[in-house]
Amino acid sequence: MNSKVSQYFINKYKPSVGPEEAEAPLYDPGLLAKLDWSKVTHMKGGVTNHAPGEGLRVRPLCKADYDRGFLQLLSQLTKVGDISREKFNERFEAMKNCPGHYYVTVIEDTDQGKIVGSATLSCELKFIRGCAKRGRLEDVVVNNEYRGKQLGKLIVSTVTLLANQVGCYKMGLDCKDEMKPFYGSIGYTSEKGNDNTMIIRF
Ligand SMILES: CC(C)(COP(=O)(O)OP(=O)(O)OC[C@H]1O[C@@H](n2cnc3c(N)ncnc32)[C@H](O)[C@@H]1OP(=O)(O)O)[C@@H](O)C(=O)NCCC(=O)NCCS
Repeated sequence: MNSKVSQYFINKYKPSVGPEEAEAPLYDPGLLAKLDWSKVTHMKGGVTNHAPGEGLRVRPLCKADYDRGFLQLLSQLTKVGDISREKFNERFEAMKNCPGHYYVTVIEDTDQGKIVGSATLSCELKFIRGCAKRGRLEDVVVNNEYRGKQLGKLIVSTVTLLANQVGCYKMGLDCKDEMKPFYGSIGYTSEKGNDNTMIIRF
């Protein structure tokens, strides 16, 4: 490998921030600590973000998750592309600099040091409804080796409770028809005459 090429890989993969900054959460983890599951009836065995199961932790995304397979996990959902550490950190900072808007939440397998589930609450500010806030559920994925163990329900329920806690008047999502039973089991419904998703792709 010539020196230009090896320098490229050194820059691409070397940690560009210290350990403390790398572990700093995208948003205040205290918000998750306060979530109230008392009205949630669809989780079996008392699973919540406070008690997600042995060796699992539910928390905000941090920069170090680049090395814990966060992007590889997202690639099980859709195209991710080749994202350098620098680009990842830039996007993380851009989100962090918009407090109250991006709540990327992950499930970590702490024994493996691996991110195995993720979902994002994204909040939009409105003028309607007295300057209300609307939540959108985005980028829901669970590692295929961990599916069927309620982690999908856990991460979606967590960010849904979070949306309520941060003051959203509603939370919406787009999904394929086949996913409707999954979201239905968590309490999401299609409203009559109002369940069309329309898009333009660029
Ligand atoms: C969808 C996904 C997050 C579910 O994760 P999971 O950890 O397997 O989900 P759970 O174990 O909590 O399953 C909850 C229920 O949903 C059902 N379910 C899970 N995936 C489903 C799917 N793809 N289609 C229909 N039902 C599904 C399960 O059978 C289960 O039903 P049950 O409670 O009656 O047994 C996971 O399959 C995934 O990451 N898929 C790829 C990415 C994706 O499609 N994301 C959603 C985009 S809208």
